[in-house]
Amino acid sequence: MSRLELFPITTRITDDRLTIAGCSLHDLAERYGTPLYLYDQATLEDAVERYRAALRAHYPAPAGLTYAGKAYLSLAMAQWVQERGLWLDCTGAGELAIAAAAKVPPASVLVHGVNKSETDLRAVLRHAGTLVADNLPEVHRLLALARAGNALPELWLRLRPGIAVATHAHIQTGQEDSKFGMSREEAAEAVRLCLENGLPLTGLHFHQGSHFHEPEPLRAALDGLLDFAAAMRSAHGWLPRHVSPGGGWGTAYHEEALPHPPVEVYVQLIGEHLQAGCRARALPLPHLHLEPGRSIVARAGVAVYRVGTVKHTASRRWLLLDGGLADNPRPALYGARYSALPVRCPERPPVGPAWLGGPYCESGDVLIEALPLPEIRAGELIAVPVSGAYQLSMGSNYNGARKPAVLWLREGQARLIQRRETPEDLLRRDVPLGGK
Ligand SMILES: Cc1ncc(COP(=O)(O)O)c(C=O)c1O
Repeated sequence: MSRLELFPITTRITDDRLTIAGCSLHDLAERYGTPLYLYDQATLEDAVERYRAALRAHYPAPAGLTYAGKAYLSLAMAQWVQERGLWLDCTGAGELAIAAAAKVPPASVLVHGVNKSETDLRAVLRHAGTLVADNLPEVHRLLALARAGNALPELWLRLRPGIAVATHAHIQTGQEDSKFGMSREEAAEAVRLCLENGLPLTGLHFHQGSHFHEPEPLRAALDGLLDFAAAMRSAHGWLPRHVSPGGGWGTAYHEEALPHPPVEVYVQLIGEHLQAGCRARALPLPHLHLEPGRSIVARAGVAVYRVGTVKHTASRRWLLLDGGLADNPRPALYGARYSALPVRCPERPPVGPAWLGGPYCESGDVLIEALPLPEIRAGELIAVPVSGAYQLSMGSNYNGARKPAVLWLREGQARLIQRRETPEDLLRRDVPLGGK
């Protein structure tokens, strides 16, 4: 499969240069500088449409998509999420502030968090229609808020299924010893507390991990959730109106992982297993919610860097870029593998492997190792595809790095949605020691 297939669906080679949505990456880099992040609206919409088509085909009851803002969130992204009719999943008061600034209606805001602070919970009361309670102490705090006269949003409980998906250990969440979610016993106690105190409990949730390609572990987790629902019906006559098996469907980051794992496979398994499971337990079909982040936004994003220095060591050709660890910590965090193409003449034949390192003072600041690439000169532009998820949202100011500019591309137009940080931005929070 071609490396080009990792890029957004509107990517073309025009006059020997990479373009996305009809915009020349060379021209954008000249105008906005590098590192530069690009989001292609058509690729985002294609991903949403694939989910929606699969849900229509495989689940006959109401179903919806909640975009996981943790993958990448900004004002523009939150606006797009709302315009496309998706719910927005926020973690904590910070993301809720972005949702509120984008005027996302609280009814379509859902909140997660394993250790929500008082500030988070106060923000939930103002801006969220649904709260997923992670643990029993949180349920007690919600009870206290309700007793103090606060109107709570709808509550779902996050179950810990005891089964993770196959992915990097740092992004597995469903295992028995995970810090996320409640055991069955804790969840049963949470249901009792909610019902006896009139809290608006309406749903059940689990999430087994992120970036998985094999949906099979979802079966056992769905069975566990439905067994729990059946037990709660017997104990209290309560049934979840909403069920969410979280998100986490993976994507291809480099050519050896292509093709992109089809969303249909994932949605089909969930839709069919949920229907069969409800039938077997005589449960009504709940409203199904999926919470994808990466599989919607990763491929839509591209990072563009400029090669500053070409260096040869004992056995390596180094291309040293003007970005890396600070805008994309995933290779250092998870050993994540990426691919890349030069923006000029991207189809030039490779001359050998190259190591793409960043400018930061960490030997772990290597974006890509041993990638076959053509001869590349200092000053050339390099485009790294599948850069839309968990890069900028986990970025840092390490070594005084200024967060990159971000552009939104659509039908030949590039709109600046996040300006590049300045040195003044780095000093914005600082207070001098003072003295004379
Ligand atoms: C509760 C929850 N929902 C949804 C997601 C989104 O996962 P992904 O971006 O892999 O789809 C995550 C990410 O870990 C999560 O923790």
